[in-house]
Amino acid sequence: MATPGDLEDSRLQQLLIQQLQSFHRAGVRQLPRAAIFPSAVPPGKPDHPPATSLSPVPEMRPTPSPENALEELELLRQQVTACTLCEDLAASRTQTVFGVGNPHARLCFFGEAPGRDEDRLGEPFVGRAGKLLTDIIHKGMQLQREDVYILNVLKCRPPGNRNPSPTEANCCRPFFERQLEIIQPEFICCLGTVATQNLLQTRESIGRLRGTVHTWQGIKVIATYHPAYLLRNPAAKKDTWEDIQLLMREMENTAGDTV
Ligand code: URA
Ligand code: URA
Repeated sequence: MATPGDLEDSRLQQLLIQQLQSFHRAGVRQLPRAAIFPSAVPPGKPDHPPATSLSPVPEMRPTPSPENALEELELLRQQVTACTLCEDLAASRTQTVFGVGNPHARLCFFGEAPGRDEDRLGEPFVGRAGKLLTDIIHKGMQLQREDVYILNVLKCRPPGNRNPSPTEANCCRPFFERQLEIIQPEFICCLGTVATQNLLQTRESIGRLRGTVHTWQGIKVIATYHPAYLLRNPAAKKDTWEDIQLLMREMENTAGDTV
């Protein structure tokens, strides 16, 4: 049976969505986090500048609250499921594809957008490219998919697998930023141009961005080629293996008690 709390939550959700839709109609494409997720600001605590990449303030990341990560992700998932900001994508999707894995993962893999298989199954990286990513995780890193967390820039499939438009990526930004803020990984591995450029807010090519450690909101970021690109260009697998080894060295150098 629904409790008064549940009813309040769904009413609040409805109000938030209406608010976002009216912002969208007004042409607003980016909002500070605190405007969208007021619950992210603990009651009684002073508001702080939103930790978006519009105004990066890494030292002001919220206090970790790992015990709430699962709950917070579920709440965010519901918001994503209800999102219709990109009307065309909302109309053409089978379902949204939120993300999968360990809510306390040390490592997140960050992809571009769901493809046909992901749109059908509701989980990221489950098609051919996903099988290659799974091999990288299993055979390359000796980890399980359940140890890491996998998410994309976009939560909806762009028809025909076209690249996400900048507007679409910006509409989804509050969702992926909040997802990463809840999980608080130590490492993010960006897969391909779209993921890397959107996270790091750069136009630099993946060829130049790979091979070094970047930082986003205090989190170490490694960029490498997208598995779909590796399927078309197997010669680049060598570079990706180097990037994964760099990532593993970084992870070994940092003591952590969860994977
Ligand atoms: N490619 C991506 O970038 N993400 C997926 O989830 C699947 C394919
Ligand atoms: N172009 C992409 O979009 N991704 C890659 O990984 C390489 C080239």
